[in-house]
Amino acid sequence: MSRTVYVNGDYVAEQDAKISIFDRGFLFADGVYEVSSVLGGKLVDNAAHLARLDRSLNELNMAAPADHAGITGIQKELIRRNGLTEGVVYLQVTRGAADRDFNFPEVAEPSLVMFTQEKNILEAPTAARGITVITLPDIRWQRRDIKTVGLLPASLAKQTAKERGADDAWMIEDGHITEGTSNNAFIVTDNGDIITRQLSNSILHGITRKAVLKVVAEAGLTLVERAFTPDEAYAAREAFSTSASSFVMPVVKIDDHILGNGVPGPVAQKVRALYVEEALKSAV
Ligand code: PDD
Repeated sequence: MSRTVYVNGDYVAEQDAKISIFDRGFLFADGVYEVSSVLGGKLVDNAAHLARLDRSLNELNMAAPADHAGITGIQKELIRRNGLTEGVVYLQVTRGAADRDFNFPEVAEPSLVMFTQEKNILEAPTAARGITVITLPDIRWQRRDIKTVGLLPASLAKQTAKERGADDAWMIEDGHITEGTSNNAFIVTDNGDIITRQLSNSILHGITRKAVLKVVAEAGLTLVERAFTPDEAYAAREAFSTSASSFVMPVVKIDDHILGNGVPGPVAQKVRALYVEEALKSAV
């Protein structure tokens, strides 16, 4: 059955959705996006995603297509029309359509596109078995804090991981892990400390990362925000990644190094359970 999607003011069947070939998202990757998860038909931590959307738009001097209430209304309508109970709502804002020119157009209406995607997040088989990752050089630009649609480096890295029989890639810059292709990276050291890279322009400021920091602190676990090396990751007792589309995902192998017993460890499982509880509680 065809989904209903949203394109610039209209709810249409996905096969009827149209966007200009002059859209700057298409020509220049001049656009930003957000992915909010849906549990039980409700949006998880959506206000935080919309706050980050504002920040991305501001950093790129891009106009907002609608206010938060307007965007949330469309997200909820799409969830309703598509009968989505579990999955994600994707939203993308671009600078709009204009004759091809590297300079920003004087006049352009921002484009807003949204769609839903079903996904089994809570009972994902990968969460039960844990995923394998390889490390690759981070070839992305220097403003990874902005959630742009320029995802080719991430796509290349994920494809390379797949071709090498792994589930995902963690990226390395200046001898340290930055983050995963579409998630933030965490390790658990031998003394039980949880380590994740501090916020900067080198990584996306993950909404799930932020919520995980909160639940971990409430649970009395020790979390240190600092950059860590691949060698530290290889020697880690456990590892996991966080994102809106996978929540807390245990990592059981990094390059050739099997972590712990090669199955999701107790800390990753606990953090996942704590996050799921928080997500269910906060979903609206
Ligand atoms: N990716 N780092 C990168 C590079 C990301 O693309 C993402 C999200 C994250 C995690 O952020 P959050 O917790 O706010 O989802 C970190 C989304 C899910 C995607 O591109 O599908």
